Amino acid sequence: MHTINSIGFVGVGDLAEYTIQGIRRGGFSGTIYLCPRNRKMSAQLAATWDCSVLDSNQAVADASECLFISTRPTHCIDALKALSLQPGQLLISVVAGMQLAALRAVVPEQTEIVRAMPVNAAQAGASPTLVYPRHATVEALFDYCGDSIGLETEAAFDQGSVLACVYTWYFSLFEQIIQSTSNAALPPDKARQLVLGMAQGAASLALQKAASPGEIATAIATEGTFSKLGLDMLQQQGAFAPWDEACQLLLQRMSYQA
Ligand SMILES: NC(=O)c1ccc[n+]([C@@H]2O[C@H](COP(=O)([O-])OP(=O)(O)OC[C@H]3O[C@@H](n4cnc5c(N)ncnc54)[C@H](OP(=O)(O)O)[C@@H]3O)[C@@H](O)[C@H]2O)c1
Repeated sequence: MHTINSIGFVGVGDLAEYTIQGIRRGGFSGTIYLCPRNRKMSAQLAATWDCSVLDSNQAVADASECLFISTRPTHCIDALKALSLQPGQLLISVVAGMQLAALRAVVPEQTEIVRAMPVNAAQAGASPTLVYPRHATVEALFDYCGDSIGLETEAAFDQGSVLACVYTWYFSLFEQIIQSTSNAALPPDKARQLVLGMAQGAASLALQKAASPGEIATAIATEGTFSKLGLDMLQQQGAFAPWDEACQLLLQRMSYQA
């Protein structure tokens, strides 16, 4: 499998920052080029994570074997239109909701395009990064900051991208549970440790078991248990239905086309 020796970022914001941190911490030793816009962040990343800030987007495109387009969706198409990409260059788009067809319309036919969706757990080496279409070299790159998950269809990628947002909701849920369970007896730092540890434990167990997470819950929350008492109350109050509705809403919105 081919190994990527140089990557470049057009769009140096939050995503570029956490992805660079993640892949550097994971051992990526290739060259990383950054565009000059957002100079403060570029300079900080250059100093901390061994990146080179170039003079223009085009200089980054010219120098990089693999180019990330990592602007917000509204800037992405204009930024790509202004670039001249090399034949056979690899373009990774992390732009949420931007379909391959919209990207294909503004880059040369020979440019390989791969969509990817790292989340900020990349900083902790724990991003389950969606990749479409399957691409061994790109998947290996994202394995530096977690486990890449190659997908066979763009519909699967769009559906999976919803989970990159659900990921954010987990933090809000954790925060709510910390607030609900900390009191004079259990200080917030201990509640935090327990809430996050229990979440990590639940995810670790569910990843190992053949049973679905729902089946694991049912097996634990049996008749007469405190776990069932609380779970029944959450279900009776409709606590799970809004999660379904929010996921459907995002899926509709993510069919954004340029
Ligand atoms: N952050 C996340 O958690 C996350 C997760 C999944 C996917 N994504 C995707 O990643 C992309 C970037 O998100 P982000 O959170 O990193 O956004 P961000 O923090 O706003 O960073 C985007 C950067 O792109 C710059 N930019 C805009 N137009 C440019 C151009 N023509 N040339 C060079 N740079 C340009 C912006 O500069 P200005 O500020 O000067 O405009 C900004 O520094 C988005 O498309 C988003 O959908 C993000």
